[in-house]
Amino acid sequence: MDSGAGGLAYLSAYSVLNPARPLLYVADKKNFPYGEKTKAALVSLLIELTSRIKKHFSPALIVLACNTASVSALAELRRNFPDTDFVGTVPAVKPALLSSVKKHIAVLGTERTVQDAYISHIAESTASACTVTRIAAGELVDFVERRLDYADSAERSAAAKKYIDVTRESGADALVLGCTHFLFLLDEFREAAGPDIRVFDSIGGVCLRIENILTQKNVPAGAARQPAVPNLLLVTGREGGSELWERRAARFGLTLAGGPDWDDV
Ligand code: DGL
Repeated sequence: MDSGAGGLAYLSAYSVLNPARPLLYVADKKNFPYGEKTKAALVSLLIELTSRIKKHFSPALIVLACNTASVSALAELRRNFPDTDFVGTVPAVKPALLSSVKKHIAVLGTERTVQDAYISHIAESTASACTVTRIAAGELVDFVERRLDYADSAERSAAAKKYIDVTRESGADALVLGCTHFLFLLDEFREAAGPDIRVFDSIGGVCLRIENILTQKNVPAGAARQPAVPNLLLVTGREGGSELWERRAARFGLTLAGGPDWDDV
């Protein structure tokens, strides 16, 4: 689940690792953007959304494919649903700091994520003397969510370069992509960064974690998969049936579903 399209990058990467498992993607479009909500509001809406997902689909595992949701509500969700396995998506602060020669990294995410105590907590426990430059980029989340599917390569490159420039000016030698939406611009970030700024994300770690938990739980790969059970895309709110979401469903091989039950989430 994510507030919008960001988690689709993770769904796509996971499908490469294990194409057999049936997947449900929930885009909580009705509550987009998560990054401008308070922690308390996010906890409450994510508890409600999780209850609905569990009631209708009984998933073997839920991936919070959203840094904002994970730093804000993962602990509360685990407390409220002790019988459910959750995999969170958090900014890759530790690997970035470990590889940073200057011990100065930048974290790019939503306002809510970059201000969360999680960032300082991980940074301080990884390196005693380090600097973390926090870059809030709600505007970039919005760009990816609404504009990216129609943007040309110059527009995509410019969107990423702007934040590589901020990173370079700060003096950091590593940039953490701390929002799942930004993975859709990974190539553009890497190209603008060149050899002097390393770009980090959590996609590989998250996919391995999902697979490890499902294997440990003995959920057989693809057991529930039948041709009649397609991978589903649920979009909350009225935008569910829009042309943009139809495009995304086609691009990621998902069947767009919805219905009145989801419009109220
Ligand atoms: N994709 C979400 C994340 O990883 C944020 C998007 C939003 O603000 O809704 O933080």
